[in-house]
Amino acid sequence: MGFFSFIRKLRQIRAQRPDIPPDLSENRLVSILLNRRSVRKFQDRDILDQEMALILEAARFAPSTVNMQTWSFGVYNTKTWRETFGRTIPYGARRAVLVLGDITRVRQAADIFPNSPLVEYTVSVINASLAAMNMTIMAQALGVASVMLSDTGKTGFFSAAYLKERLVLPAGVYPLMTVVFGYPKARNFPVPPKFKIDDITFCGTYRQTKASVVREWFSLMEAGYRASNFFSSFQAKLGYYRKNLRQAEKELREVVFGQDEQKPPTGRA
Ligand SMILES: Cc1cc2nc3c(=O)[nH]c(=O)nc-3n(C[C@H](O)[C@H](O)[C@H](O)COP(=O)(O)O)c2cc1C
Repeated sequence: MGFFSFIRKLRQIRAQRPDIPPDLSENRLVSILLNRRSVRKFQDRDILDQEMALILEAARFAPSTVNMQTWSFGVYNTKTWRETFGRTIPYGARRAVLVLGDITRVRQAADIFPNSPLVEYTVSVINASLAAMNMTIMAQALGVASVMLSDTGKTGFFSAAYLKERLVLPAGVYPLMTVVFGYPKARNFPVPPKFKIDDITFCGTYRQTKASVVREWFSLMEAGYRASNFFSSFQAKLGYYRKNLRQAEKELREVVFGQDEQKPPTGRA
């Protein structure tokens, strides 16, 4: 990518704005939703316990399939995270919530999905992810920034075996991601390249996004990544994923299907 093309792409990225009709531009919830960004630079001061409690309340009140609440949350501050994982919370964040899909309560109450590990896993992932999203929105409403992490710092499904061992997870509990929280170091983080609404929606039968649109998006991703990680590249980042993919896939299969295939976990109804 030439220098001028790089600059043009950065301008394109910087110019992105959420589409908000003028009469709703002052609406606080609209603003909270559309101005949320994943933040990776935090101030060196703790967030309030009452703010953290509200963030967790947002998780508890998230929607879930048949209200099954197929989730659990590991809740950490800097001290307890260090005690558990022997290092700091990624990006210098002050609090962390490890989001787990959790089917164990459902199994105890009534074995709703016997011999259906993929259904159990899917239900858990959907519901726990909604709870994670609720937490980030509540955080944003309180002026607390966050980022969901599934890879950085062995925080989610890409390190399933590690987290299973560290947290002594039983069968039916799936590490998904960690949401880390803190006050943001800056405001107005740039919007990473988003597809346009016409590229991701259809009416009637499915419509595939044009290859040229996908190529353009990919080149914006490369430029954006280069701008924020000058000594690395988006391709290098993807290379990292490719390198670790086999292991991650193997561990995840073990966590999702492993024990169930051999013997039902104890405590199963
Ligand atoms: C499930 C999930 C996992 C993620 N894992 C990581 C991660 O490991 N490291 C990271 O820096 N960002 C991670 N992110 C943040 C994404 O990179 C970010 O959401 C995306 O670039 C879009 O930016 P935005 O949230 O500001 O719109 C993750 C996001 C999601 C939803």
